[in-house]
Amino acid sequence: MTTMTAAAPSRYRDNPDAIRALVEPDRVHRDLYIDPEIFALEQEHFFANTWSYVGHESQLANPGDYLTLEIAGRPLVAVRHDDGSVRVLMNRCAHKGARVVSAPSGNTGKFFRCPYHAWAYNTDGSLRAIPLKSGYDGTRLAECEASKGLVPVRNVERYRGFVFCKLSDAGPDFATYFGASLTSIDNLADRSPEGELEITGGCLRFLHACNWKMFVENLNDTMHPMVVHESSAGTAKTMWKSEPADKPRPMAIEQFVPFVSDYKFYEDMGVRVFANGHSYSGVNFSIHSGYSGIAGYEEAMNAAYGAERSARVMKVARHNTVYYPSLTIKGAIQSIRVVRPIAVDKTVIESWTFRLKGAPDALLARTVTYNRLINSPFSVVGHDDLHAYRAIQKGLHASGNPWVSLLRDFDPAEIGQADVTATGTSEISIRNQYRAWVQYMTATM
Ligand code: FES
Ligand SMILES: [Fe+2]
Repeated sequence: MTTMTAAAPSRYRDNPDAIRALVEPDRVHRDLYIDPEIFALEQEHFFANTWSYVGHESQLANPGDYLTLEIAGRPLVAVRHDDGSVRVLMNRCAHKGARVVSAPSGNTGKFFRCPYHAWAYNTDGSLRAIPLKSGYDGTRLAECEASKGLVPVRNVERYRGFVFCKLSDAGPDFATYFGASLTSIDNLADRSPEGELEITGGCLRFLHACNWKMFVENLNDTMHPMVVHESSAGTAKTMWKSEPADKPRPMAIEQFVPFVSDYKFYEDMGVRVFANGHSYSGVNFSIHSGYSGIAGYEEAMNAAYGAERSARVMKVARHNTVYYPSLTIKGAIQSIRVVRPIAVDKTVIESWTFRLKGAPDALLARTVTYNRLINSPFSVVGHDDLHAYRAIQKGLHASGNPWVSLLRDFDPAEIGQADVTATGTSEISIRNQYRAWVQYMTATM
């Protein structure tokens, strides 16, 4: 006799109305953060229906250069094809399904070779060779998926060197999806006297014991820094207080101290939100605005763009821009953080730094210092945030109140607006993320 185990009843699968009920205009249900079924459905629908960051073209400089990653739980390989294009392929052998490429990055030469039975694929994914191919004579290989090679992701876009893809064909095209938020990528690239960026300094991967949304929300949550970072940045500020006012501030002090600016500072900074969950804080200025100059940088920018345009580019010093859901950038400090969800309560945050082509090396030193001090697994500031995320991940299991409040500065008129600028301490950027979340979560249900 065979016994069958009944599957757990599914509350949310094929039930878009139940999903919609989790997101109200000014609050969201805790299941968004702690329910494994929601996480599984996000992988299936939400992450497949949205444009995700793949990597930067400078990581794929030469034909055959590749990097591997996962989006929406699917294993992918991005590769520079010999015609100069960037291809994103399912990292799944057409024969028996083995992951073809295991290394995080490298150069594969002219083809990929599966480590199991050595089927080989060109860098556009097409099947190149099968050992002892005569064994397939007279079979239906030619009509099967097996002969089609590695499945390509059809929706791939490059913007100023940033490569994005969307796994499903549902939803808007790239330009419509990101709209005017792309000006933050423009500003980052324009800060290079040559208009080009290069990933430099490796990747710092930081495993967060929390749901991915807590990290993304926090980027433009400006009511937390003066509280959460009091113990780190606040200590640096206190230590520096007794120093003479004219003493040059070390780079670390310059980077730490603005985190503990007061409420007024963050209110005045401003926040701007766009359709589809994107936003940036630092509309008027940011914690990066007061950094001292780097010798030779302004001169290089002026020579490249002229003084007026150069000043315009440098004046923009946005805090964080969220390219919802996977990419967050800091143009003024040339670093990005990439969100790679692993499980409902586990997220890897990758921190990458850029060299601005044509800029002095001291600028890269500032970028790398910032990334180490603030974002890395051995940072001083990032652990404060991680403590808060873990506290939420635990706290949400309490009973009696299943809602996460997002009421601060809520105005019903903001609903449905494609471009809104608000006071910097508003929770509008988070509410805006969840409107997009519902849309892309249910689009293919
Ligand atoms: S699974 Fe790849 S060649 Fe057999
Ligand atoms: Fe923080």
